[in-house]
Amino acid sequence: AIPLIIDTDPGVDDAFAIALAARSPEVELKGLTTVFGNVALDLTTRNAQRLLSYLGRKDVPVARGAEGPSGAADVHGEDGLGGQAHTLPDDNEIIDPDDAVQFLEYTVTPDTTVAAIGPLTNIANALESGIVFPRLIVMGGGLGLGNTTERAEFNFWADPEAAQVVIRKGNPIVVPLNLTHRCIADTEFLARVDPVLSNLTGTYRAYMENRSENQGIYVHDAVAVAEAIIPGTLKLKSHLLDVDDEGALIEGKHQVEVAEDTDWPALRAFMEQRLSV
Ligand code: BDR
Ligand code: CA
Repeated sequence: AIPLIIDTDPGVDDAFAIALAARSPEVELKGLTTVFGNVALDLTTRNAQRLLSYLGRKDVPVARGAEGPSGAADVHGEDGLGGQAHTLPDDNEIIDPDDAVQFLEYTVTPDTTVAAIGPLTNIANALESGIVFPRLIVMGGGLGLGNTTERAEFNFWADPEAAQVVIRKGNPIVVPLNLTHRCIADTEFLARVDPVLSNLTGTYRAYMENRSENQGIYVHDAVAVAEAIIPGTLKLKSHLLDVDDEGALIEGKHQVEVAEDTDWPALRAFMEQRLSV
């Protein structure tokens, strides 16, 4: 199995991504490193612990990472899980003694994949401290497209400097909004998967309906993690890119693999199957 570490700010679609990894034998989940983002670090860390407990994976270490100004409670709820964090068990007190960067330093091996599905602060700090990621998959950015400002996607917007470091030095596979906006877990999808996970999506669905975007939720982070589980799920193309000071993904001189396409009906069926109980 492919060793996998997920750097995450759960987060409703983070929860789907973590569940997908935990229930996929192709990967061995080596740990979750947490970061501020959708909500504050204390909550994202607690949510990571709760999700692992719910998934029967208290053996997976959780290492705390960077704090910062959070801000997506309108999408993910005040508790980060659609006001439903309390439906998950709260009996996982295990926290790794190392912080996220140290954990990455000790845990990443030459065959490890890291999926970064929150703001990139931990990953940038790790790169700055000399850690090399053999395979780094990042959910973030949008080419000519944003979801937080007109031009910036949330994970890049939350720490633009970190996104710059990752694009310039991290040699990442980037899974942008342009692709994830085509990957919608609609009401039929949500009716078929684990009801405990579906139940986390209420705030997110209300947000989407209010903006009359769609019926359902974007499963941004699960799309990125699917590529970690089954390489080749996403069709990649090299681009020369950079990130500006506002967190917009722009043309530049740094070579990045961008996920441009996928067979969504097939990926959707894969997710449904793995996320069902
Ligand atoms: C990203 O922002 C977060 O709200 C989601 O969890 C995802 O990682 C999408 O822009
Ligand atoms: Ca996320």
